[in-house]
Amino acid sequence: MARNLTQLELLIELEAVAEQNVNRHLSMAKEWHPHDYVPWDEGRNFAALDGTDWELGQSKLNEVARAAMITNLLTEDNLPSYHRTIAEGFSRDSAWGTWVNRWTAEENRHGIAIRDYLVVTRSVDPVELENARMVHMTNGYSPYTLVRRQGRPDLLMNTGLLQSVTYVTFQELATRVSHRNTGRVCDEANADRLLQRIAADENLHMIFYRNVCGAALDLVPEQAMPVVKDIIMQFQMPGAGMPNWRRNGVLMAKHGIYDLRQHLEEVLWPVLRKWQVFERNDFGPAGEAAREELGEFLENLKRDCERFEEQRDRSLAREAARREKAADLVSTRV
Ligand SMILES: [Fe+2]
Ligand SMILES: [Fe+2]
Repeated sequence: MARNLTQLELLIELEAVAEQNVNRHLSMAKEWHPHDYVPWDEGRNFAALDGTDWELGQSKLNEVARAAMITNLLTEDNLPSYHRTIAEGFSRDSAWGTWVNRWTAEENRHGIAIRDYLVVTRSVDPVELENARMVHMTNGYSPYTLVRRQGRPDLLMNTGLLQSVTYVTFQELATRVSHRNTGRVCDEANADRLLQRIAADENLHMIFYRNVCGAALDLVPEQAMPVVKDIIMQFQMPGAGMPNWRRNGVLMAKHGIYDLRQHLEEVLWPVLRKWQVFERNDFGPAGEAAREELGEFLENLKRDCERFEEQRDRSLAREAARREKAADLVSTRV
């Protein structure tokens, strides 16, 4: 049986694929500038500069859109932690280093653009946003924290290239879905345009990682498949644990920004199909066992989707009935 490749061997073996995909990315990426996406004429001073401080009535966004925007922005804000994790898993040299820096610069643009938009348009409370950013960035992000929180510290004790490219493939695609749908619920043309632009970037990022990870599966299927299985089974968005994470996550799931079925059908399956995980015949015993376990996990997830949707439908119906009743009360009193 072939032995597992070391981190260094993997980096050397996959360097040509990384280079090819950096070049692909650079040829596909569109230049864009955050300032072009912000309606600056809606801006005005806050009280510290003799203007008016924020209050809820100034926001044009509904509660769900505000929660999603804050979640997406705080997720982007934690970039220094992601940069560290990716840089540790990759290399600072060659195409690997070029990618890490270019990707970091593009991700930084996302946070800049969303923050400028939200503050200028007074869409969210800037004090609450800044306080949450401080808490979230001080906590930082690390794959170890994520698995510790799930009570399975054994899962990722060996973080490296394979773990990083697998996780980020799914995370970039998840972020794309989340930005895209947040733009839709904002019901505001500038926000939608900005988030569509960012979602297009996230898709290109996903393609880079998906191609590198696909090449790793071809190179060392027996070594890579258990990693793919572990990453999927323990997947959590990188923003997990940020202030109001649970509350905002429930709102986003309830209103179709990011829910379990989207995770399964728009994030997990398209990538697994592209890698031909369930069609390939190059696995040994460890790869076979991991694929089988993953298959069962995906079946269970499908059942969980149905359960979640039934609960969601009931809860939304109850809320609609409550709103109708409240409206009736108002109309009989007027
Ligand atoms: Fe981003
Ligand atoms: Fe991205």
